Parts: sequence; C-alpha cells; structure tokens
Amino acid sequence: MKFFIDTADIAEIRDLAATGMVDGVTTNPSLVAKTGRNFLEAIAEICEVVPGPVSAEVTATDFATMLTEGRKLAKIASNIAVKVPLTWDGLKACKALSDDGIMVNVTLCFSPSQALLAAKAGASFISPFVGRLDDISIDGMDLIAEIRQIYDNYETLATEILVASIRHPRHVVDSAKMGADVATLPPNVLRALANHPLTDKGLDAFLKDWAKTGQSIL
Ligand code: G3P
Repeated sequence: MKFFIDTADIAEIRDLAATGMVDGVTTNPSLVAKTGRNFLEAIAEICEVVPGPVSAEVTATDFATMLTEGRKLAKIASNIAVKVPLTWDGLKACKALSDDGIMVNVTLCFSPSQALLAAKAGASFISPFVGRLDDISIDGMDLIAEIRQIYDNYETLATEILVASIRHPRHVVDSAKMGADVATLPPNVLRALANHPLTDKGLDAFLKDWAKTGQSIL
C-alpha cells in the first residue's frame, strides 16, 4: 500500500519524508489556504521534496478553465497529479488531461457510481472521502469495498483507489485489508500508526533490565 501525506505544510512533509514512508502528497484548496503561502510556490517546493505523485487541485468549476488550470499545474513538475472534483465538468477535464498524459486525481468521491465514472474518464487516482461519510453515519469503508469490487471486475480500469479523508489508523488498516492502492494520511495519523502502549512498556522494561547489567554495546 502506498502512503501519501495529506497536507501542504512543507515542514511536516520534510519531517515525514525523512522516515522513508512517504510515497506522495495530496493537497486541496483548504489545506493550501491553511499554509498562508502562495499556492504555486508551495506546490513546486513539495514536488522537489517528494518525488512521488503530488496532487494539486484546480479551482475552476467549468471544463474549459479546469483544462487551462490543469495544464498549467502539470507544467510545475513531472510528478504533479492534477486534482479535479467529481462533477461532469471535472470528468470531462479528467478525460482531456489524461489523454494529454497528465496524471489526474478525481476528488470528492462519495459513491461507487462516481468512482466508476472517474475510472472510465481515465483517472489515475480516485479519492473517496471515508471520514466525511462516517461524519454523517454512513460507513465510509463500505464505499472502498464497493469500489474495489467494481474495479476488480474490469482489467481495463486502471484507476488506483486513493483513500482520503482518513481520520485514524483503523481507516488505514481496513483500507489495506480491502486492497486499496493508496491511503492519504494526515501527518498525525501516519505518526499514530506506529504507536502502541505495549511497545512503549516493553521497551521501557528492556532498557531498565539492560541498565542493571552495567554493560554498553559501544
Ligand atoms: O484529501 C482530502 C482530505 O484532505 C479531506 O479530508 O478531513 O477534510 O475530510 P477532510
């Protein structure tokens, strides 16, 4: 499973990229706005730090302007994935951009029918928002299972399932069990994946017992 980091905060990206666990980055207009930075400059810097796919979202809602914006974003770096919303204009832009050989991440997906349309439009990635479905008492992981089932029925559908709106490690584990291709994690969720109280307790006990030996490896 690939791990993308869901943030535009370059300090967080640099810190987590150093772990070797970061395979890409996803951003969206809200995440970029939180940084207070110039969008194009921030994306260019992220592309230099992380060689994997970096999602940068268009902000137009009409096909023609989405296409113009998407082509401009794609010129920032070779690892740009242009993000478009799951609307008919977004699907048309996805088809045109993917026909240009540009990676496209279709975002704001909340149903299996939307995911099927995105794959038919040539999306590189589909971003189903599991956390926002959970927020309205709909099990977001059911959507991942349905998309996986649909995509696996057709060899011609090459779109990768990029699980987004992740709230906690259980979303990551369940996505991996279902065979999702990518999980895009808020920085705190990636860090939480390694946490377990018994690990801390066991290491503490090992080190206390070692200290009693008075020995040193070096
Ligand atoms: O990549 C999409 C993600 O940023 C949305 O997450 O927490 O706003 O639902 P959230």
